[in-house]
Parts: sequence; structure tokens; C-alpha cells
Amino acid sequence: MSRIQRCDWDQWWRSAAIYQIYPRSFSDSNGDGIGDLAGVLEKIDYLENLGIDAVWFSPFYPSPQHDTGYDVADYLDINPEYGDLETFDKVLAQLHARGIKAIIDVVPNHSSWDHPLFKQALAAEPGDPARDMYMFRKCSDSTPNNWGSMFGGSAWSKVEPLTGKACDRDWWYLHIFDASQPDFNWENPKVHEFFRSYLRFWLDRGVDGFRVDVAHGLVKDPALPDDTVGPDRLHYEGAESDSGRAPDVGPFYNQPGVHDIYREWRSVLDEYGRDRMLVAEAWVNTPEQEAMYVREDEMSQAFNFSVVNCHWEPAALRKVIRRTQEASASVGAPPTWVLSNHDKVRHATRLGYPTGANTDNGIGATDPQPDQEIGLTRALSATAFLAGLPGSIYLYNGEELGLPEATKLPDDARQDPTWKRSGFRVRGRDGCRVPLPWSNAPGSNFGFSPANSSPAWLPQPDDWGKLSVQMQESDPASPLNFYRKMLSVRRDLGLGMGESSWLDSDPEILALQVTGVDGSKIVVVTNLGVNFRPLPPQALGDTAKTVLTTPGIVSPQASQVGTDGQIAPGQTLWIKI
Ligand code: NOJ
Ligand code: CA
Repeated sequence: MSRIQRCDWDQWWRSAAIYQIYPRSFSDSNGDGIGDLAGVLEKIDYLENLGIDAVWFSPFYPSPQHDTGYDVADYLDINPEYGDLETFDKVLAQLHARGIKAIIDVVPNHSSWDHPLFKQALAAEPGDPARDMYMFRKCSDSTPNNWGSMFGGSAWSKVEPLTGKACDRDWWYLHIFDASQPDFNWENPKVHEFFRSYLRFWLDRGVDGFRVDVAHGLVKDPALPDDTVGPDRLHYEGAESDSGRAPDVGPFYNQPGVHDIYREWRSVLDEYGRDRMLVAEAWVNTPEQEAMYVREDEMSQAFNFSVVNCHWEPAALRKVIRRTQEASASVGAPPTWVLSNHDKVRHATRLGYPTGANTDNGIGATDPQPDQEIGLTRALSATAFLAGLPGSIYLYNGEELGLPEATKLPDDARQDPTWKRSGFRVRGRDGCRVPLPWSNAPGSNFGFSPANSSPAWLPQPDDWGKLSVQMQESDPASPLNFYRKMLSVRRDLGLGMGESSWLDSDPEILALQVTGVDGSKIVVVTNLGVNFRPLPPQALGDTAKTVLTTPGIVSPQASQVGTDGQIAPGQTLWIKI
């Protein structure tokens, strides 16, 4: 089945391979060391050849970049560092011409403190309707409650230092992230109206959908009660967290009212057709809670973070995958599979640590370092396993190169606000945001920029040239060529749109039989153990043919795999039966 046909299908997102572009780090066209939209235009062939169905752009709006664009100063324009609306239109047209859909990031929980609405709110007096767009509260002796910011410190900041007005002395504003990211007041109908017109602006331009930032956070418990996890979200001792960070629970998360917002948004999208989609970034605790966001009249998809948080452990993985499948089926939504994004340590690194190691706080040069070979083997294997299952798969730019986390970034280069707000304890997320290597030429930031450019906005490790696209193109066993093959076989067999059933098997292996839309049957199997294991009997018939094998196998005997009925440790196979 061709990609064009898939994208004509009105619910294309149900099975799509969606590639996240982090604009600042993808490709720099003008040599300032910062990625931009003209850089994306230069890589359209690359995106097409990779075989993805859609692109998700992390925020590209004007922003003071206190949280790399998740602090939006204007929702209806492009950050001049990244280009302009005209360039965006060109990117969109080029993608569409290749049959690739495009979704963009909407950030509705908060704006930047540079947004005109917040500036107007500050310029107004307490009690003025302009202030009611955000969460201002008066309290003379302390913060209005004990809420802590997700990036450390209090979630409340004083208003007076920003306005210099005596009338603001006892006033605070809420920001569940950085102080530069004031939270909108979603009890105000004007906020609803503002975002409805935002959606229409971009839908009119032709975008195919939206990734909704902090989708579980917009509505707060109106009584603003104290948060039981305590005031410091980076020091938490509850059993649910081994990173020391509080989970996303509390009076500002997953309140029932958020669902009304997405029903309202769904009806806006429906004005444009059922092929426009919404995907929730909702860090909720269970696949069942996540499924609430994708009921028929709400969003189309929610990121499946239970898999992101899972270790290389067969019983645990089997459990979260099964639960995800059951919870999605209960509301008729497709599962999503995701292993990396711009907030998590890259999975080629995460999986290179012993089971149980927690990397949520980021990694620095003095921390224990991962086993890169094991990490890469497992990463490719985990990706291939999930890509073989029905549902849609999200890929984070650079993972197709097997890029590891930059684990030795100089601390003085770090930009994530968490680093500073945590008193330089929690290193944060810069390690997964380092610009991509496109060639082996250091003078151009490994081809991220043109020759003789400014240094990349985050420094690339010295040895990244060998991981570059240029170096991987000619190596048939490279991660890049593996991803291309995986996505092409996935599309040809229609695996994302198929049906699956688990095969009872060895506790060390995960195995499902997937029936593609064209009726072909594929056994998707991964060995999470440390020894060769027999393949499930269903994969051993006379006509069985291996259509995908992960590269980078830990064992040297790997070449025997598939011919002697065994699967190597750390390997994933797709076997057509
Ligand atoms: C989630 C985004 O993925 C993350 O990068 C950002 O810092 C927060 N939301 C705040 O917008
Ligand atoms: Ca640039």
C-alpha cells in the first residue's frame, strides 16, 4: 500500500509513523548555530526517504526561549530565528506534496511572560479583567498555597518585581513551570475563545493537527488546595518515583474539567474534517486514565508514556503493552508507541544502563556512563518491536541515527531551566536536544550548519561525525538504513493498521502475531534475555521468512539467527508466516 493512499485515509494518524522535529536542533540553514525552517526545507528529501507518514514540530513560535520555545510570546507567528510564516507555508506545502502530514505543538497551559496578554495583565490593576486571563492571587504572608514548580522552587512568583507597582505587593501569579511561563486561567471563557481562534488560524494554514502540551494540566482544582506531594517537586520520597521527582499528580493535574476543553477543540477540528487530529501530552498514571483523553469526542491519540518509563524487563514491558492495548481498545482509539522525545534521556542511552537505573534527572560527565553498545542494540530492538504492532509510532529526530544522549555536556552549556531552578542539582534535558550530525565535517557542526558557522547552540560531542547521516548512508548495517527498511516494511505490510494477538511464549521473549491490513501474518518477536532462545512455533513453518532483523546484535553468532529457529539476545525479528 503506498504512502499516498494511507494519507488519504481520513484517520491516517491511527497507524502513522510520526517524526518529531525539534526545530532548534534539526538543521541550521544560515550558520547561526540554531536550527530553522529553511533547514527543514533542505531536508525534505531526507524525510521522504526515511519513510515517515507525518512530522510533529515542537514549538517554533516567537519566544524568549526560557524553555526552548515552550514559552510562547506569539501563537500566530514564527520565531524570527527559525524563519517566517512564508517559510512555514513552504515547508508545509513540500511535506504535503510528498504525502507527509504535519502537526504542530500547541502550548495552552501557559504563555511566555513576554506574551502581550500577560504584559497587558501586568499593566492593568489587580481585579481588572485583563488580569483574569492568568492565575493571579492575593496573599499577604506567604505564597497562596504550597504548589511547587515542575522545574523546582515554588509555582508562585511575586507580581511586584515585574510591575514595580505598590498595589501588587501582596499579589502572586501561578506558573507550574518556569517563572517565565505564567499559567492561563481556563475558567475564563476568553481563554477558550483565544485558543479556538488559534486553532483555526493554523488549521486554515493547512496543518493536520496539534500535539497538546501539558494536556492534563490546564484546569486547576478551583479551591487551590495544598498539594499533598509537598512544595518541592524535585525532592519527593513517595514509592511511585525513584528519581526523587514528584509524579504528575496533584490539584493542578488531570482535573475532570480538562476533558470539556478537548470536546470543544474536537468540534473546532471537525469543522475542517475528521482527518485533523489532536494528540495529548498527558502524563497520567495509568493507561486507563490516558484513555479518557481519547474518547470518541475528545482527542485522537495520547502519548503512551508507560512504555517510555519502562525498563528492559520482559514481564514489565509485556504488562504495559497489554494494558495499553486493552485501554485503547476500550475507547476505540489507536495505541501510540513512543520511546524518546525532547524531555527524556534518549532511549539508546537509557537502555544502556542496568535495569532499575533512573535517568530522569539527566546525565552529567561525572555520573555513571551507559554501555553504549548494549543501549543501541536494545534501542533498535525496542523500536522495531513497537513499530511492528498496530497503532502509531512516534520517532524523535536523531533516533534513526541511533544517537545516544550527550552525557558529557559541559555544565556551563546547559540551558534547561531545571538546572538553575534546582540549584544546579537536576541536570535536565539538554542531553537529548543536541543538534543532529549530518556529515563528518566538524567546521560545520557536523553538517548541522553550513561551513564556517557559529558553534551549535548546544555543543555536539567530538565523535558525532561517525554517527552522521553522511557516514550512515553508505553502511547497509547502519541504524539509519535499518530505520528506513523497518518503516518501509511496516508500510508495505500495513502493520500499523493491523490486528494483533499475543503468542504464549518463553518469559524472556515478547511475541505477537500481527495481521496486516492485506491479510499477511507476521510474528513480531524480541528476546530480552541474555541467551539465545527458541522462536515461537508459529514462526517456524516451512514458508516462514524473516522480513526484518535488527542490526547491532550483542552475540557474534547472530548470523545464524532465523535459520536455526533461535533468536539472539537483544534481537527483534519480524517473521512473515
Ligand atoms: C512539556 C514539554 O514537552 C516540555 O518540554 C516543556 O518544558 C513543558 N511541557 C512545559 O511546556
Ligand atoms: Ca539558523
